[in-house]
Amino acid sequence: MTSERKSIHGQWSSRLAFILAATGSAVGLGNIWKFPYITGENGGGTFVLVYLLCIVLIGVPIMIAEIMLGRRGRQSPINTMKTLADEERRNDHWVWLGWMGMIAGFLILSYYSVIAGWALSYIFRTASGVFVGATADGVNSVFGDLVSDPERLLAWHTIFMVMTMIVVSRGVKNGLETAVRFLMPALFALLLMVVAYAMTTGYFMEGVQFMFTPGEIKREGVLIAMGHAFFTLSLGMGAIMVYGSYLPKGTSIVQATMFIAAADTIVALLAGLAIFPIVFANGLEPGAGPGLIFKTLPIAFGQMEAGTLIGTAFFVLLVFAAWTSAISLIEPVVAWLVENKGMNRLYASVWTGVATWFLGLGTIFSFNIWSDKTWSIPYLFKNYSFFDTLDYLTANVMLPLGGLFIAIFAAWLMRETSSRDELNTYNGLYKLWRILLRYVTPIAVIIVFLKAVSVI
Ligand code: PFF
Repeated sequence: MTSERKSIHGQWSSRLAFILAATGSAVGLGNIWKFPYITGENGGGTFVLVYLLCIVLIGVPIMIAEIMLGRRGRQSPINTMKTLADEERRNDHWVWLGWMGMIAGFLILSYYSVIAGWALSYIFRTASGVFVGATADGVNSVFGDLVSDPERLLAWHTIFMVMTMIVVSRGVKNGLETAVRFLMPALFALLLMVVAYAMTTGYFMEGVQFMFTPGEIKREGVLIAMGHAFFTLSLGMGAIMVYGSYLPKGTSIVQATMFIAAADTIVALLAGLAIFPIVFANGLEPGAGPGLIFKTLPIAFGQMEAGTLIGTAFFVLLVFAAWTSAISLIEPVVAWLVENKGMNRLYASVWTGVATWFLGLGTIFSFNIWSDKTWSIPYLFKNYSFFDTLDYLTANVMLPLGGLFIAIFAAWLMRETSSRDELNTYNGLYKLWRILLRYVTPIAVIIVFLKAVSVI
């Protein structure tokens, strides 16, 4: 019986533990670093609207499906897909979904760790007081100095990868639960403080208008907004599936999903409300790219009462948020190595960590010694750096594709009795979910893909 299947990796100690861990996975650099800069690059208002629509119509139904598949299969995504495909008498090729997810997680972590390294280094920069009273130019040059120095970037990237490997090797449960329980609310509180500061700049309404007044959006912007909905909710690559595989039976997947998606969205919107007023108050460019938060928030910390303390704490918490996401990025790979290659967790974590660290060099160099090396893929993008290429291919192609296949499997190929049994929710809610996942979600993903490559 499927309901009696057990994970060899253990289980969350409670429903709350799962919600915290999944929220820890979802809330990360994506919300505070990436959301503001891609919103800035894509013109604000309409981009935010498309992103919010994608969260509700695509992200939420897929998250429910992904947790459900994980809990039913109770193994790494590859083995879960194999077991469920067998059980539903479907083709074995579904294991490819697990493979693609595993590769996506590995690619994402390689650059995620480099950016988390920036945040790590900013803990010490901020604590040293260099930002006190600093001008926009001063703050800008601190960032420029950091990213143009490959050795410093490498050192921080290495430290962050080691931190990630330590937690993953001990099993995601130990340490993670406590970390998320206290640190997430603290991050939230500090974010509110920066928003409160942003209100005093005199440019708060400009920020609000930029984020919520619809305007122009490019074709590509729609794909980026959808890709970000997947990225920010950690969907389409098996991270949430593997977390679902440690979930005790009886926990309501639908309720948990609502909480995670709401918390994630609120943090992203707050980050935007904190950053854009500072951008406008200081005559900065909203489309400044990946350095945006590192060029704006320090200005606020430099001017706020107790800004050195608040700023230092903020970057500490940002690193924690990144940390709890990073471990979920390699957990699918580690779980698979343990299940299929008979490795112990420590060995599996070190092995994956070293490979990821190595690939991270590409991202480090793309900000300095490789800054003139570019890649293009016809119909998708032209002259992107190594980092932009990785980011684009994972967030905008691999995750939505993974999500599309998860939707097809859960809504079309899995028997209704199986998904009903696993979700065990109100009939109306179940029906709504299934309709969304059968029709709305896949069609929306396909339309956005076709639009991005200019077919429609
Ligand atoms: N959701 C994380 C963030 O917003 O920072 C990033 C992430 C984690 C993406 C895990 C994908 C994933 F599987």
